[in-house]
Amino acid sequence: MRETISPAKSISGVITVPGDKSISHRYGMLTAIAEGESKIANYSTGADCQSTLGCMGALGARIERRDGLVIVQGGKLTEPAGELDAGNSGSTIRMLSGILAAQKFTSRIGGDESLSKRPMKRIMQPLAEMGAEIEATGGQFPPLTIHGRYLHGIDYTLPMASAQVKSCVLIAGLFADGDTIVREPVRTRDHTEIALQEFGADIEVEKRVITLRAGAKLTGRALVVPGDLSSATFFLVAALMIKESNLVIHGVGLNPTRSAVLDFLVGMGASIKVLDLQQSGGEVIGDLRVRASRVTGGVIEGALTAGLIDEIPALAVLGAASEHGLTVRDAAELRVKETDRIATIEMNLRRMGVEIESTPDGFHVAGGQRFHAAEVDSCGDHRIAMAFAVAALAADGPCAIDGAESAGVSFPEFFSTLRLIAR
Ligand code: S3P
Repeated sequence: MRETISPAKSISGVITVPGDKSISHRYGMLTAIAEGESKIANYSTGADCQSTLGCMGALGARIERRDGLVIVQGGKLTEPAGELDAGNSGSTIRMLSGILAAQKFTSRIGGDESLSKRPMKRIMQPLAEMGAEIEATGGQFPPLTIHGRYLHGIDYTLPMASAQVKSCVLIAGLFADGDTIVREPVRTRDHTEIALQEFGADIEVEKRVITLRAGAKLTGRALVVPGDLSSATFFLVAALMIKESNLVIHGVGLNPTRSAVLDFLVGMGASIKVLDLQQSGGEVIGDLRVRASRVTGGVIEGALTAGLIDEIPALAVLGAASEHGLTVRDAAELRVKETDRIATIEMNLRRMGVEIESTPDGFHVAGGQRFHAAEVDSCGDHRIAMAFAVAALAADGPCAIDGAESAGVSFPEFFSTLRLIAR
């Protein structure tokens, strides 16, 4: 589907964004294995999180939607009738594999063309150490055939910064006989640790070492998913770039392991204020007010890269409009996301007449550049679709966004929300 976006003079109003994608996945899976009933408010409307619910339903969890809530009756899982469909969702296949590896049945899980190219060795390796038996296409790609086995706790040092891999091992550890320890090279989003604590698991976090004690019994509960800060970032960037903007985004998740983007933007001179902080289910939630600002530009490297990994497409766009530009390093992971994001950012910026130099693990975009009207292509990647819709707001004429429907993977209401606030 093609969306046409016209240049805007102002991005102003009061909006909300869908429930956080990362937290929704975790709640969707943990409520299905927890004993009893759970009620989840503000569960993500994104297709990825529906894939998680679809899989958990196929595994025997009873899931209904009532009064805007997702209601899950969890407990023991049962053998699915066919292949589990993770759609476009790396989080679903990687984290759910941790559950499937410990069941008393064999299951198969796959997804769309993009997912079928994403690396799975990173979860297969620690799960094999725990005793799992998993077959993959070409030894490393989905679909995966997972033969449930009796699992043992392990002490695992992650070879890369990945919250999905960390979560997969911890979730498998729920079923293991013995403690499970995960050591991270840099701290990544800690929603799994927080959620496991909420559900009653015995888990300890000391800096970058997480210890999950064996024998946890999870029980169902009422949960509220905060708004997704990664989705909000597209509108933060839009409001910063477009001159007369003044935007409030309500109820956004501000977990410190996710909010590096706010510090980064404010550090560059962005006018972003956090209003009305609250806590729910161990997560921090607040409202954000953003006003158009001149931003200096900056460098994303080292641990910061892991903290901003999902925000880089939006920040690349802002980098071109900033004073000194944006340099990204240590971001080889971008090449194995829903698309090779270094390549898809580069292709679309060039189409808009913006200069960019890429490297194997990053890129540099000079500042002070203009966006020219162009046809851009999401290549099926939700964050590329939304980042370039934002770039289009600052262009010198209407732009066409091809593959715009892919925004629905995390934010089905993205284009309708944009139309409400763009003038
Ligand atoms: C996620 C972790 C990150 C992130 C993805 C969601 C999560 O992936 O890019 O969008 O929910 O744990 P990696 O674990 O592959 O870094």
